Amino acid sequence: MPAELRSTPLRAAISAVATYVPERILTNAELAARLDTSDEWIVTRTGIRERRIGSAGETTSTMGAEAVRRLMAQRGVAPDEVDALIVATVTPDMLFPATACLIQDRLGLPRAWGFDLSAACSGFLYAMTTGAQLVATGVHRRVIVVGADLMSSIIDPLDRTTAVLFGDGAGAALLEPAEPGFGILDFYHRVDGSGRDDLLMPAGGSLRPPSIATVNARQHFLRQNGRAVFKFAVSQMVESVQVLLARNGLTPADVALLVPHQANQRILDAVAERLGLSNERVASVLARYGNTTGATLPLALDAALAEGKISKGDLVVLTAVGAGFTAGATLVRWQ
Ligand code: ACO
Repeated sequence: MPAELRSTPLRAAISAVATYVPERILTNAELAARLDTSDEWIVTRTGIRERRIGSAGETTSTMGAEAVRRLMAQRGVAPDEVDALIVATVTPDMLFPATACLIQDRLGLPRAWGFDLSAACSGFLYAMTTGAQLVATGVHRRVIVVGADLMSSIIDPLDRTTAVLFGDGAGAALLEPAEPGFGILDFYHRVDGSGRDDLLMPAGGSLRPPSIATVNARQHFLRQNGRAVFKFAVSQMVESVQVLLARNGLTPADVALLVPHQANQRILDAVAERLGLSNERVASVLARYGNTTGATLPLALDAALAEGKISKGDLVVLTAVGAGFTAGATLVRWQ
């Protein structure tokens, strides 16, 4: 971002975070009972011990709405005080209308406009950046950003290479004008569309509309080249954080907590090692929730706040990588 934009005096702060996960827990032992895998393989290769799976009737919008309801209750925000709602998801209830519209209606937010944003695992980060600009212009005072995904709706239950990784969940953050010197200080985002074939859902869009052939070919499920994604995730999260810190005259030593997208504990360990951060300074909720795509950042942030790992004035860096590829990092001075 050009320096003159970065010095915009009005900034957005994350003034509250709330989450929702389905009650149903799917353990590694349950997966091992129906797939050629084991608790030992999953834990040593990914760090994941269990994940949440939505029950009948639970969708991305119902999970997202519950996270937003909790967020508004926590901060005492009335329905008519919400200016905008941005929902990051790759599993919208349907292709259109947008999940943001469904949540707006479910919660009865009379003044909020909104839309969905598609950036896969980087979605919450991109939504936060977008929402922060609406606050920074002074036009909006309260923007809610949601990351929600019902990954169980697009995961092939017969594919052991992906079925063990993902879970369902939702998180929401409230963006409000920051006190001077606090809030979202800077962001660095990039996309590299040459990675489009490494992580995708092949059918269901205009390229391959749904047909009996696409269903039979299991093309409505997520597919990935795990090793390519792994490499890109490590290198791009590290690079994003380094670029962001360097241009703000900071080093990893200045960062109180790194909140990375939660895909695989080995990815987090590699990122921590390359940045020279101890494991205590890298948030992880992978063991409990697995990869919830758009929801991992608010889930990790919420847990870190609950555990007292973030204090006012701390520098917190969020970073993510996702399908596309998409990547980025955001620098926050916690308010
Ligand atoms: N149980 C047992 N064996 C398995 C399983 C499983 N669940 N999954 C794969 N294997 C096997 C493979 O078939 C392979 O067997 P082979 O050697 O006989 O062919 C062997 O384990 C090793 O496979 P690798 O792919 O080399 O295993 P790796 O250590 O790379 O781990 C994994 C695979 C977990 C997918 C890893 O590559 C990864 O996490 N990649 C990142 C992918 C990701 O996180 N995507 C999420 C979305 S994007 C994002 O969030 C950034």
